[in-house]
Amino acid sequence: MSDDGYTLDDYVDDLRSITAEAADDREIITRVRALARRLALSRSWLQAQHYECNEEQGFGVHLLHEEPDHSLAVFAVSWLPGRGAPPHNHGTWAVVAGVDGPEENCFWERIDDGSIEGHAELSKRAEKVFEEGEVVALEPDHIHSVMNRSDRVTVSLHTYGMHVNHTGRSQFDLERNLEIPFTVVEQ
Ligand SMILES: [Fe+2]
Repeated sequence: MSDDGYTLDDYVDDLRSITAEAADDREIITRVRALARRLALSRSWLQAQHYECNEEQGFGVHLLHEEPDHSLAVFAVSWLPGRGAPPHNHGTWAVVAGVDGPEENCFWERIDDGSIEGHAELSKRAEKVFEEGEVVALEPDHIHSVMNRSDRVTVSLHTYGMHVNHTGRSQFDLERNLEIPFTVVEQ
C-alpha cells in the first residue's frame, strides 16, 4: 500500500467539513466513503499496537480520534482469527474501510415489528468478504455482523458519527431473539 500523504489530521478536517455541510446521514456516508478508503490505504496512521486485541471481546478497539462531544469517532479495530462481533447496529452513521486482511460482513434485517421490549427477530439478507480498501457504509439502524475467517489478526478503520458507546446502540442474540445493549471495551 502506498502512503499518498493523506493523514489522520487531514481526514478529521474533512470529516468536520462534511458533517457541517451535509444535509443528512446519506450524504455524509456518500462523501466519507472515498476518504475512509483513502486513509485506510495510506496506512499513514497505522501502528503495531493497533493489532493488539482484547481476548475476551474477540477484537481490539483503538481510538484514533473523538471530538469533545463524542462525535466523529475514528477507530482502528483489530480482529482475532476466528472471532467477530454479533449482529449489531450503531445508532449513528458508520463507515468501515478494510486496512489489513479480509473481514466477512453479514447484513441482517429486522423482521419483527419491534413491539415487544427486548425482543428481536433477524433474517440474514447478504454476506460479503471485504478486502483492503473496500468500504462498508451503514445508516444508524442498519444491522451487520463481522467475522475474521482468516488465520491472522485483521485491521479495519471505523468512523462513526458518534462514539458507539454513546449512542445507546444494540446487539442481537440470534438464538434467543434478544435485543441487548452493546458497548465495546477500548484498548
Ligand atoms: Fe459494526
